[in-house]
Order: sequence, then C-alpha cells, then structure tokens
Amino acid sequence: MDSEVTPVHAEITLLVNGTEHRLRVDTRASLLDTLREDLGLTGSKKGCDHGQCGACTVLLDGRRANACLALAVAHDGAEVVTVEGLARDGRLSALQEAFIEQDGFQCGYCTPGQLCSATAVLDEAERGWPSAVTEDLRGDPVLDDDEIRERMSGNLCRCGAYTGIVKAVGEAARKTQAEEAKA
Ligand code: FES
Ligand code: FES
Repeated sequence: MDSEVTPVHAEITLLVNGTEHRLRVDTRASLLDTLREDLGLTGSKKGCDHGQCGACTVLLDGRRANACLALAVAHDGAEVVTVEGLARDGRLSALQEAFIEQDGFQCGYCTPGQLCSATAVLDEAERGWPSAVTEDLRGDPVLDDDEIRERMSGNLCRCGAYTGIVKAVGEAARKTQAEEAKA
C-alpha cells in the first residue's frame, strides 16, 4: 500500500510585525515553521515543538500563543507580532530594556518567548484580567512576584534565569504604570 501523503497547500495572508504577507503554505505547517522558514523570522524559537516550553510564544491577534501548536492555515488574516516586532522605531520596548538591566537571560534561547509572553502579561494586567493567584478580583491585579511567576509559568528557562526575568517584568510593569499615570 502506498503510504505517501500528498501535501495540500493553501493561500493565506498574515500581517506580521505590521507587514502583510501572502503565503502558500502546506496545510500541515505550524505558524512557527511558517514564520521561521517561509518568512525568515527566526527570533521565535523551537524548543519542544509540543506546546510545553513557551520558546515559540508570539502575539496572535493580540494574545500570546504557542506558535508551534498553531496551524498557519487556521490563522488566515491574523495579525502576528514576533520578538522582531517588539522594538519600535529602533527603540527597545521598556520590557526589553528591563531584561537587559535585570539580567533576564543567559543563553537567550527562551528570551524571545519570554519577551512576547511578558508583553502580553503587562497588557492582561492592564485589562484587569485575573490569574490563578489573584486574591482581590475587584481591582486591577498588581504584578507582584507571585503574579509574575504564575503568569509566566508557561515559559521555561533551561538556564534558570527566573530571578532576573521576574525582576525585569516587575520593573517594566512599574515603568509602564508610571508612564500611564503621567499621561
Ligand atoms: S516550541 Fe512551542 S511550546 Fe515549546
Ligand atoms: S536564558 Fe537560556 S534557556 Fe532561558
């Protein structure tokens, strides 16, 4: 019996880091492979390819998602932000700067996923979304160390740079809140 599978392709459009791309993808291709291999955006990393490590985290229509678990064909028309899209006009985001200042990485392999995930954490807290450890559900959650650890628990770091990561996310949260208070 012939066991070969004939690939099926589909045309999709993705808005990645503000640029629209028309792509012809294998319907079995993950969003991660599409970003890395078709678009050359190798910032998003393949750690486990099974949704367990978070190294491939991107922002998909504004929410964090494991790109290794998303089929590209299922996200036709989606807006994607990868680590390459976090800096604006050549300036690092407050979070990226905080990762540098607080030593939030060692080898850096998990860092793109940590940064995308943490970007979403700041946004989720600002929207008032609680986590499993939020005690007071009436106000906006305060991103203390427990909240940050819980919210970042899907992003593993083999180097164990967690102390710096938690400090960096906390520092960025404080800076973002201070800027909002001024505005
Ligand atoms: S590579 Fe996607 S979660 Fe590990
Ligand atoms: S900095 Fe090396 S895996 Fe996180």
